[in-house]
Amino acid sequence: MKYTLITGASSGIGKAMAYKFAKEKHNLIIVARRLEALEAMKGEIESEYGVEVKVIASDLSVEANAYKLYEQLEGTEVEVLVNNAGFGNFNNLWEVDIAHMVKMIELNVKTLSILSMLYTRDYKDKEAQLINVSSVGGYLTMPTAATYVATKFYVSAFTESLAHELKNVNSPMKAKILAPGPVETAFIDVANETAKNEIDGAGFTFHTAEQMADFTYQLYLSDDVVGIVDMSDMSFATKPAIYPSFGI
Ligand SMILES: NC(=O)c1ccc[n+]([C@@H]2O[C@H](COP(=O)([O-])OP(=O)(O)OC[C@H]3O[C@@H](n4cnc5c(N)ncnc54)[C@H](OP(=O)(O)O)[C@@H]3O)[C@@H](O)[C@H]2O)c1
Repeated sequence: MKYTLITGASSGIGKAMAYKFAKEKHNLIIVARRLEALEAMKGEIESEYGVEVKVIASDLSVEANAYKLYEQLEGTEVEVLVNNAGFGNFNNLWEVDIAHMVKMIELNVKTLSILSMLYTRDYKDKEAQLINVSSVGGYLTMPTAATYVATKFYVSAFTESLAHELKNVNSPMKAKILAPGPVETAFIDVANETAKNEIDGAGFTFHTAEQMADFTYQLYLSDDVVGIVDMSDMSFATKPAIYPSFGI
């Protein structure tokens, strides 16, 4: 049996993705810290869509838990891995809580990299997909989110480079980047939690998490590398890699 694994699936974009992929008949492995929320989703999704859902509670900001998750998956075929778990923090750089920023790097960068690397080793010769969740902030700078956008620049550059590497060796595996604009989730509240310069989302146009899940599925079905929102009109499009590249 094949599975789609989604990290950060207990709320927001990851939760909506879980419902969308289940609707499209993907069996799921859903991962986040909040076990109760995941268990409730499992019951609902299994009865509504007739797919199998495995639940794993894990704090992925802890490096050892990334390896533990990988070990727990031994013998399980993961045809799609979506590295979605992540958070932001809205502060001028001199006001950022350094320990909190390090946690963000651990989750948004370190764990995403470890899981991506282990996945690529195992699946580079198979029809498989890695979808890493970046942001339009992975292609644009943003005052009061320097550390956050830097983590997302990493996600985009890392995954675009990997996509080139896989193409160079004619691998059947695909590596892709989802780059959402503002989405109505707990993201802004979480990012404001420790912020001295709270961002009030009033000036933004938001997608719903369900719209973003539909866009993710569009990216999954496409042969492109990046699925990105154009902030000028909030349209979504899939594209080839965006960053200039050398050595290809
Ligand atoms: N919303 C936006 O405007 C927006 C825009 C661009 C990109 N994004 C990106 O989209 C992704 C999802 O964010 P969202 O908007 O859906 O926010 P969200 O509603 O706050 O969801 C974040 C998810 O990540 C999980 N998570 C957080 N810390 C974790 C940890 N230490 N270990 C395991 N799981 C953890 C949360 O579950 P638990 O709390 O249960 O662990 C939750 O399921 C993030 O990577 C974010 O950077 C969001």
